[in-house]
Amino acid sequence: MAKIAVIGTGYVGLVSGACLADFGNVVICVDNNADKIETLKNGKIPIYEPGLDDVVNRTVETGRLSFTTDMAEAIQKSDVIFIAVGTPPAENGSADLKYVEEVARSIARTMNGYKVVVNKSTVPIGTGKRVQEWISEELENRGKEANLYLFDIVSNPEFLREGSAVRDFMHPDRVVIGTKSEKARSIMKDVYRSLYINETPFIETNIETAEMIKYASNSFLAVKITFINEVANLCEKVGADVQDVAKAMGRDGRIGGKFLHPGPGYGGSCFPKDTQAMARIGREAGMPLTIVETTIQANESQKLRMFEKIESGLGGMGHLTDKIIAVLGLSFKPNTDDMREAPAIEILTNIARRGAIIRACDPAAIDEAQWRLKRIKDAITYYTDEYEAVKDADAVIIMTEWNQYRNLDLDRIKSLLKTPIFFDLRNVYKRADMEKKGFIYYGVGQ
Ligand SMILES: NC(=O)c1ccc[n+]([C@@H]2O[C@H](COP(=O)([O-])OP(=O)(O)OC[C@H]3O[C@@H](n4cnc5c(N)ncnc54)[C@H](O)[C@@H]3O)[C@@H](O)[C@H]2O)c1
Repeated sequence: MAKIAVIGTGYVGLVSGACLADFGNVVICVDNNADKIETLKNGKIPIYEPGLDDVVNRTVETGRLSFTTDMAEAIQKSDVIFIAVGTPPAENGSADLKYVEEVARSIARTMNGYKVVVNKSTVPIGTGKRVQEWISEELENRGKEANLYLFDIVSNPEFLREGSAVRDFMHPDRVVIGTKSEKARSIMKDVYRSLYINETPFIETNIETAEMIKYASNSFLAVKITFINEVANLCEKVGADVQDVAKAMGRDGRIGGKFLHPGPGYGGSCFPKDTQAMARIGREAGMPLTIVETTIQANESQKLRMFEKIESGLGGMGHLTDKIIAVLGLSFKPNTDDMREAPAIEILTNIARRGAIIRACDPAAIDEAQWRLKRIKDAITYYTDEYEAVKDADAVIIMTEWNQYRNLDLDRIKSLLKTPIFFDLRNVYKRADMEKKGFIYYGVGQ
């Protein structure tokens, strides 16, 4: 059992904190957003993440999980400090480390003994070293006594997926621990004891390798998605069906079927910023990652292509004015309310700028959409019921494949629509079936 502080109580910090407490550790989750901490103290979960409320409630009840805005106290009470703050893109595409630096310096200013400082945020290669320098610098400022405090740095990147974050944290494919300290490594194994004894693979590396593993993994997945998106676009030109292509490709054990689903382009809080940061790291090291650079461009084009598909399906340029378009799904993927870099943002903005009237529907992301789409707020009305959104619309778009949109009453949808135009940007339905039902159907690569 370890005493842990998790600094940054967002998607990663909250899930990590709650799950680590469920593993038997004593965890204090810290955030400088007082509203968020107040919400959590009142027993409410500030994000939509299936199953998270159960873990939070049961660990709070046992007394092993608590929340605070008091970082100093949390640091002093803990032996292991996880940094889980955001690392958003800076203007030049690199990861902005200002929050990580702020936390590292705060740790040094308040630490009262040996600490293991764990970077869980996704950070550029070399950040572990910088965190070490920031802490050492601040300790030096504190003078003689603090100068004697020892600490070790660990890189422990997180691979959870929003929407299945609790399961991913509890049953990871692997746990990566990058450190040069034997002591820290053994403490980390203690932190993850319940996984360790369950034979979860532990990959032990140096700090730089662990940092690289995270960026390389996310970049690879982004490349894979983009590859199938481009194959889908080509399928449309040559009369092939990408669904069958992907299915057959995925059967090849060397390729694997995951992340071979064509769509409107990847989004979310990770792939866009991590590919940008990875490309930047490559350029700065004089070793450009051309495939990642191309992926970033291709992903931008994919979002634009989806808009063009919608515009041309509704009659071409100039024909979107006053068209009513129902949009099912806004979050960047199902089972989350997260809209960071969601393709919906760009696609809906383009549609609205052409004069369309948007009826947007999402089971969880409407609050988030209201501020992320505020520039086009006059063009959007929000709905929670998909059938209401579709009533008298000129077309419907499936933007995010939430379960309820996978199983629509299609006859009802068709009878509610003014014209039966159906844009399925996630290939939830099959062209042949949809055409048989009388829809004018547009998928991706079908
Ligand atoms: N979201 C994911 O699916 C995911 C998956 C793997 C890795 N990551 C990485 O994890 C990191 C965190 O991502 P996230 O999605 O949880 O971000 P987030 O924005 O949801 O959460 C970050 C939290 O840190 C808090 N914070 C910022 N500065 C602080 C400070 N000085 N003191 C205390 N709290 C502070 C913010 O208030 C916020 O609540 C990022 O580096 C991200 O790339 C995210």
